[in-house]
Amino acid sequence: MASVTATNLTIPDELLPADGRFGSGPARIRSAQIEALSAAGATVLGTSHRQAPVKSLVGRIRTGLAELFDLPEGYEVVLGNGGSTVFWDVAAFGLVRERAAHATFGEFGQKFAKATDTAPHLQDSLILAAEPGTSAIPSPAALADAGLDGTADVYAWPHNETSTGVATTITRPQGIDDDALVVIDATSGAGGLPVDIAETDVYYFAPQKNMGSDGGLWVAILSPKAVARAQEIKDSGRWIPASLDLVTAIENSRKDQTYNTPAVATLLLLAEQIEWMNGNGGLEWATERTRETSGYVYDWAESAEVARPYVADPADRSSVVVTVDFDDSVDAARVASVLRANGIVDVEPYRKLGRNQLRIATFVSVDPADVKALLGCLDFVIDALA
Ligand SMILES: Cc1ncc(COP(=O)(O)O)c(C=O)c1O
Repeated sequence: MASVTATNLTIPDELLPADGRFGSGPARIRSAQIEALSAAGATVLGTSHRQAPVKSLVGRIRTGLAELFDLPEGYEVVLGNGGSTVFWDVAAFGLVRERAAHATFGEFGQKFAKATDTAPHLQDSLILAAEPGTSAIPSPAALADAGLDGTADVYAWPHNETSTGVATTITRPQGIDDDALVVIDATSGAGGLPVDIAETDVYYFAPQKNMGSDGGLWVAILSPKAVARAQEIKDSGRWIPASLDLVTAIENSRKDQTYNTPAVATLLLLAEQIEWMNGNGGLEWATERTRETSGYVYDWAESAEVARPYVADPADRSSVVVTVDFDDSVDAARVASVLRANGIVDVEPYRKLGRNQLRIATFVSVDPADVKALLGCLDFVIDALA
């Protein structure tokens, strides 16, 4: 075929998905949410977060999440500003007593590990590092095998490593102290992967991924033990910056507020998404849907001549972020730019992974029919560029 550039290859309309947003975060926000935002705009946007309209949004989020995750007795939904990155600092100040243990197998797990490891008031962290594309859990046995001796009072790992498309099963590691906290980064996993919250003490996320909202907020589901830990650390007199003070966030959340001014539109979009999931059958429905849509992509990659799933072990493969490696015969960056020119956006791989890869989010907001259409577009583009 004569030279085809990214911009002059037109994908036929009948192949295109109805919605071309497949990013892993910021991620697709459904039009019904945007309509709700527009409808409620005049009564809630631009109004005080200390008054009933905005407080009721926070209330909807807190009760909606309690329902979605079927929270055990005593667990609380807490929120604050700044996204998951800020929550890492909140945790380093307000949840780690002396030392944290982490499993890292990609960018985001590493960033949290660095936050606790470099905090001057904490001991060096125990960091179990696994290769990107694989998974690890920081159990005492796995840490000992890696020559990492000692105990920790926080055990942390991602539910879903967004940079690689690896998901983990969340169970409290065997042999950790009764008092230790299990702290799970669910930024991209929450609401799209199965979880039994009773296995965790802190299950935290930012809502710009499967939770279908915008960034800038952190939400943490805390066990009674985690709440007690935050109070114990605060009472110890440790210096904690006011904006990172977990006890302050807990106290505000109990009043359906945030410590400082939140992005009201983010709260509204999030409340709508949670209620949509609950209305459709809750976490079981959502996780079945992401399993189905991600399955289409994995099956496609398994059967394609020029592609394969990046994550080798099927047990590690995420249902919400699917990574597909390509042979050298396919220039994945070029494929992504053709797709982008045709309105299919954000399937580029995580920038620092540096692979000939596409990364496709199959969050709950992504219609299974759109994923099927995307795969048809991929066949078309790969064929045309060959
Ligand atoms: C697993 C995971 N953790 C943490 C973050 C950071 O979230 P935020 O940008 O809200 O700080 C991300 C963002 O992509 C993520 O995917």
